[in-house]
Amino acid sequence: LDNGLMRTPPMGWLAWERYRCNTDCTNDPDNCISEHLFRAMADRLAEDGWRALGYEYVNIDDCWTSKKRDAQGRLQPDPKRFPSGIKALADYVHAKGLKLGIYGDMGLYTCGGYPGTTLDTVQIDAETFAEWGVDMLKLDGCYSNDSMKAEGYPKMSAALNATGRPIAYSCSWPAYQGGLPPQVNYTQLGEICNLWRNYGDIQDSWDDVLNVIDWFGRNQEVLQPAAGPGHWNDPDMLIIGDFGLSYEQSKVQMALWAVLAAPLFMSNDLRSISDKAKEILQNQMAISINQDRLGLQGVRMLKDKYFEVWKRTLSKGEYAVAFLLTANDGTPRPYLANLAKLYIVDCRLGYKVYDVFDSSFLGIFTLIDVIYLKINPSGVVLLHISPVCV
Ligand code: DGJ
Repeated sequence: LDNGLMRTPPMGWLAWERYRCNTDCTNDPDNCISEHLFRAMADRLAEDGWRALGYEYVNIDDCWTSKKRDAQGRLQPDPKRFPSGIKALADYVHAKGLKLGIYGDMGLYTCGGYPGTTLDTVQIDAETFAEWGVDMLKLDGCYSNDSMKAEGYPKMSAALNATGRPIAYSCSWPAYQGGLPPQVNYTQLGEICNLWRNYGDIQDSWDDVLNVIDWFGRNQEVLQPAAGPGHWNDPDMLIIGDFGLSYEQSKVQMALWAVLAAPLFMSNDLRSISDKAKEILQNQMAISINQDRLGLQGVRMLKDKYFEVWKRTLSKGEYAVAFLLTANDGTPRPYLANLAKLYIVDCRLGYKVYDVFDSSFLGIFTLIDVIYLKINPSGVVLLHISPVCV
């Protein structure tokens, strides 16, 4: 969507995967969906180095509203959990140099059973969000049929634009249509949305991360050309810092989301995140790969019994290559990489090679040299490769 927003993939935090529809603020005040949670995450984003690295969105997901619209037909936040209202929350977030994202659903109800946005409430909802000072909308797609979505998603895009406020627009539409043509029209999505969920929800497990990665690899011929500045495929939230991924597996998710030019929305507890998870999420070279200004999504070059090799073309003749050892049988395995075999051949003098998570310089390699890598089980080596030629 050509609204000037998200020229590189958006970065921030999103409540859903970690906090779900926890509305029990009586027993679980620190983790229920409430203004307290979003303020706490805004504080952490601003104070713990996240914002400085680009993590700027604080995003609300499902279950934030009352069960009913107000007398004027507007969505209203649950009064117990958001007593100050969304405008005050947006002000708070903005004062920290951050942006606020909100959630709606094109349909009768949200997936969690709260009021949805129907065709006749698209405009009032867009206007409400703009008046509150919201910066991004994720529009889910539960409780609607194909034709309602086909009319509603473009309609909301136009309605947001008509408010005059820059509001980034995340569409769950393709995820509800199977993510592939002919049901999904990626040309149209690129025109009306800044990002879109292509595939099912990520859950907090290694199997799920692998499954998402594999789906993106299998369908890359369709997906890769759909992404670019202002319009991104979204493989869903980062679950690094949660319960399901080992240290090595966490690096895999970060590496692949960087190579895929994916939105980086963490769904974790920034108040108690481990230093190791934080270090992965705050890896500057991984982030700069993700944020490369060309905005070209990477592709899978190889998949065999043990390994996957993913390559992303970056600006300035640079590349990022992720070597994944998907096998998880306990033993690290060597991988003999070679630039020519990776089709990295433009600079005949050779390339400087950095190991991103090891933060080490591996050396200068010519096109025919062997780069000896050792990869941990269900782990990754992510290389940043830059030409010696100027
Ligand atoms: C389905 C979406 O794909 C999830 O990301 C989340 O927003 C839930 N709905 C909320 O109910």
